[in-house]
Amino acid sequence: MLGLRRDRLLTLLLLGALLSADLYFHLWPQVRLQLRPRRGRGGCSCPNSAGDPTAPPPDSAAATASRPGEAEHNFSQVQPGERSEEQGGRSAGRQDLPSKLQNLFAHPLYRTLEEPSLQGPEDTLLSSREALRYYLRKVARWNRQQREEETPEDYFYFIDFQRHNAEIAAFHLDRILDFRRVPPTVGRLLNVTKEILEVTKNEILQSVFFVSPASNVCFFAKCPYMCKTEYAVCGNPHLLEGSLSAFLPSLNLAPRLSVPSPWIRSYSLAGKEEWEVNPLYCDSVKQTYPYNSSNRLLNIMDMAIFDFLIGNMDRHHYEMFTKFGDDGFLIHLDNARGFGRHSHDEISILSPLSQCCMIKKKTLLHLQLLAHPDYRLSDVMRESLQEDQLSPVLTEPHLLALDRRLQIILKTVEGCIRIHGEQNVVVTEPSELLAPNSVQADLAS
Ligand SMILES: Nc1ncnc2c1ncn2[C@@H]1O[C@H](COP(=O)(O)OP(=O)(O)OP(=O)(O)O)[C@@H](O)[C@H]1O
Ligand SMILES: [Mg+2]
Repeated sequence: MLGLRRDRLLTLLLLGALLSADLYFHLWPQVRLQLRPRRGRGGCSCPNSAGDPTAPPPDSAAATASRPGEAEHNFSQVQPGERSEEQGGRSAGRQDLPSKLQNLFAHPLYRTLEEPSLQGPEDTLLSSREALRYYLRKVARWNRQQREEETPEDYFYFIDFQRHNAEIAAFHLDRILDFRRVPPTVGRLLNVTKEILEVTKNEILQSVFFVSPASNVCFFAKCPYMCKTEYAVCGNPHLLEGSLSAFLPSLNLAPRLSVPSPWIRSYSLAGKEEWEVNPLYCDSVKQTYPYNSSNRLLNIMDMAIFDFLIGNMDRHHYEMFTKFGDDGFLIHLDNARGFGRHSHDEISILSPLSQCCMIKKKTLLHLQLLAHPDYRLSDVMRESLQEDQLSPVLTEPHLLALDRRLQIILKTVEGCIRIHGEQNVVVTEPSELLAPNSVQADLAS
């Protein structure tokens, strides 16, 4: 009798344990998933605006985010230079909105493109066995400069540090500008001893590790220049911040072209390039292949705008996948020399734009949107970067410099329009003409 009761008790306990486990491992995650805001394009938690009580008021520019197709009227009211009274925070009465970043990615300008259909076996690149290996490979940059340090004025751009946080921030900015030409990049705190030295079987890699006089584990790179122990990076004593970028498929699988930038700088201490002394330089570029026919020059303008915002003077080459031909996009690789000086805006980086006076309409619309207080660039960048493990990735002065530089870009475009007329400056790409929800900008206002 007593034994039977004990059996029942055991069964009850077992059932209770099973029920608790079920609640904890199945039901609770489901509840949490339901409570969490939905993820949208760009990894944002985008609101479902239809019938959503948190949707923005209908008279705001943000309201266009929830009503695709109706953006035309409201967006045309976006004025370059418009600011809200309060700095950095949300607008009055908007505290109930999820976030500026979510609203930005929900805006019709950021509409999701249709997945292109597969044309042939080479299009299945990423699902192939070989391509999977690349998910494990990463391009790394290491922490060499503290966040609050500025690059000294007397440093040439080609001896400046390569900053891991610049690579991370550049990825976020590129996504916010909707270029999507920087391979995904994240920050990580790595134990260089346990996660690199002790796991590698590569003898060359092992040979570059050493222990510093301060007992920190350090390593240097093997390359033709600037790769001596003097340029080593060190853990503290093992932990080191780094940026990790997704590795692009090998050149065999997806061949790339490396092209010198027409606005390349001199990499000597005294030299000057033609674009620096000839204000009509762009006229000759426009007549030269491939800039004379494709939209390559417009892509260069995008890259110059991107580089001006991050303050990157080190864009000597750009790369492209050959598969997409002359009109293919430029891959924004190597942004490590960005975000060196927040107190200085290097106007010469904008030379392609100021000399050629042309810009894609889509790019201009994005820039105008990011100048609007509801989507202010520094705010959306701050929010986006908060997701990174190494947050804060950029200091406040660097974030605020983005807003200042954005105004300079918009003023440059305004100046171009005044001189050459809007129809000669703002270029609509063929793909934009086909888009059903094409957003119009009233650039004259
Ligand atoms: N994410 C990536 N995936 C694959 N290859 C990459 C990636 N990023 C850079 N590379 C390649 O690595 C090489 C060097 O990259 P990067 O330009 O970023 O480094 P760097 O040290 O600044 O070199 P440089 O002195 O030429 O500017 C380039 O040939 C580039 O094609
Ligand atoms: Mg470089």
